[in-house]
Amino acid sequence: MTRPDIFYQPAKGEKSGLPHDPFKSFVIPRPIGWISTTSKEGLDNLGPYSQFNNVSFDPPTIMFVAHQSVYKRRSKDSVVNARKTGEFVWNMATYDTREAVNASALETWDDEFPIAGVTKAPSQVVKPPRVAESPVTFECKTHSVIRIQGDSLVGHSDIVIGRVVAIHIKGEYITTDGLFDVLKAAPLARLGYHQYTAITHVFDMKMPFMPDDNVSGNTLGGETGDSDAILYKTMDPRSEDDRRLEERGRAKIASAEKTEAGNDAAGEEFRTAHI
Ligand SMILES: Cc1cc2nc3c(=O)[nH]c(=O)nc-3n(C[C@H](O)[C@H](O)[C@H](O)COP(=O)(O)O)c2cc1C
Repeated sequence: MTRPDIFYQPAKGEKSGLPHDPFKSFVIPRPIGWISTTSKEGLDNLGPYSQFNNVSFDPPTIMFVAHQSVYKRRSKDSVVNARKTGEFVWNMATYDTREAVNASALETWDDEFPIAGVTKAPSQVVKPPRVAESPVTFECKTHSVIRIQGDSLVGHSDIVIGRVVAIHIKGEYITTDGLFDVLKAAPLARLGYHQYTAITHVFDMKMPFMPDDNVSGNTLGGETGDSDAILYKTMDPRSEDDRRLEERGRAKIASAEKTEAGNDAAGEEFRTAHI
């Protein structure tokens, strides 16, 4: 029997009525910030944070969010270290490293690298070591830490924002076309409850009117010096009205082409990895 729809207002202290709070199972999949830091005293730390994402690409900037440690009754070590030393490292979590990722989620005072059984690789610009088993790692300088007050001790959280100052990509994860081989890496992501997923399916879809030579974000990623001019037309001398007219014309053509081509366009094709 289908359950009735649910509506509840957390701001009023209301609950879903389900056996488990479903909130974390909706904003999914969440990539994992597998964060390494080094304390002021020189002790290394490693831990996964699924409240993680990039916040900008020019310059590359990322963030992770750590809830306050109930165990230690203060911000987690990753936050304390990133704040005090101004440095942290992001390591890509993958399907192959999933057990180590999980094993590193300890609120211990000790170094989680040996506990998780992963190897330290030296960083070049910052002090915290990188996870040698990760296909991609970012060396970061802490940009800012924002404290969000919660409704409980565990609810308080710290948003750590970092500038990515150096990037390591293992050659074996770069395709012959020069793209990052997502299916080979199978990045790990968190769902709700105790559920995870790994990227095993990929399909392409271009933004409307994207130039043909723009492969999945090269232009967006700012790899070409004139990306702003191409994408946002900031250098286009025509008036906004003229550009709007041109855009509507192109939209008409695109929609006619789509109808002709039918729905099984090549871009809809799934590429699949078997892990
Ligand atoms: C996959 C995974 C994702 C996690 N995501 C978060 C998170 O987003 N925020 C958080 O506070 N704790 C998260 N945890 C728990 C932390 O990893 C754990 O508390 C942390 O490693 C404590 O480390 P520290 O005190 O040494 O910094 C997660 C655990 C796992 C296994």
